[in-house]
Amino acid sequence: MTEQEQNVQTAEKKQVIFSGIQPSGTLTIGNYIGALRNFVKLQNDYDCIYCIVDEHAITVRQNPADLRRRCLELAAIYIAAGLDPQKNLIYCQSHVSAHAELAWILNCFTYMGELSRMTQFKAKSAAHEDNINAGLFTYPVLMAADILLYQTNLVPVGVDQKQHLELCRDIAQRFNSVYGNVFTIPEGYIPKIGAKIMSLQEPEKKMSKSDPAECYIAILDDPDTIRRKIKRAVTDSDGEIRFDPESKPGVSNLLSIMSALGDEDVDSIATRMQGKGYGELKKETADCVIAALEPLQAEYKRLIADKAYLQNVIDTNAAAANSLAIRTLRKVQKKVGFAPRG
Ligand code: TYM
Repeated sequence: MTEQEQNVQTAEKKQVIFSGIQPSGTLTIGNYIGALRNFVKLQNDYDCIYCIVDEHAITVRQNPADLRRRCLELAAIYIAAGLDPQKNLIYCQSHVSAHAELAWILNCFTYMGELSRMTQFKAKSAAHEDNINAGLFTYPVLMAADILLYQTNLVPVGVDQKQHLELCRDIAQRFNSVYGNVFTIPEGYIPKIGAKIMSLQEPEKKMSKSDPAECYIAILDDPDTIRRKIKRAVTDSDGEIRFDPESKPGVSNLLSIMSALGDEDVDSIATRMQGKGYGELKKETADCVIAALEPLQAEYKRLIADKAYLQNVIDTNAAAANSLAIRTLRKVQKKVGFAPRG
């Protein structure tokens, strides 16, 4: 048994966390604040599995060379953000075939109507009208398989994944009601502040890596770029610094970013900044983002130069993940009636 497997199977069994990020583009501070930062916070209290979900990424067309490169880059980002690859399983989804195998079985326990209601499917199929493929439609089932394979208790995600997580719970409960207690029913871990970081240019919309670059801050943006993008962020004309996402989405977004990264309550930042202008708010927000990302960026630069190390991390962790995943998969295969292996 490898060291990682032993860690995941310690005698005082910790609860299990699973989450994933798609290697489909530049990561934004939305990904960082809504998900990655919480992965790091939770790593000591749980057995954590943080996947690079490359199978999800191909539901929209990817350039193969870019996708390949981004998988290693995402492994480097995970580690640079503070995830210890000795304690957490960091690996590529496509390297553990149980994900796709369980997804097939769960497809047979998921209804077309449920999948048609997914808001992300509706948004993505509108954005990629020429490629509304079946994978895009069954995407949440693969996500459910990811989570259920590891008997996951907690799933740290941003609010945009809440609907998928609810579907995952429904599928698990449906399966359990037929076959007994096969799957642990997972809970979401959605941060109070920062679960939905908004676009800098259209603050009524989620910050997304698929929008033009001035709408988001990439976690690898240099300080000058960060300052410039925040300086140009859309605010409003009443000039008051107050947290009110409904009527002041731009200002509230900057306050949320600062609050999440600086661990200070939004209202206390707003009170502290009363009487100051938006220029000052933007300057403080940029300082805060730059300071939060600096150590990650420095560590990333170091790690990305060592491809052999990164390859070794994803290889050994995939082997450990595989031996955990196969246990649930075999149980499920038996329950549904697949012939035993000799
Ligand atoms: P993905 O790759 O789109 O995003 C990764 C994580 O970042 C969060 N996030 C945000 N949080 C706050 N504000 C934002 N603007 C923002 N944008 C993105 C997302 O909520 C997510 O937590 N389907 C998932 C990946 C996945 C997964 C899983 C997650 C596949 N299998 C199993 C959890 C468990 C996705 O596309 O995330």
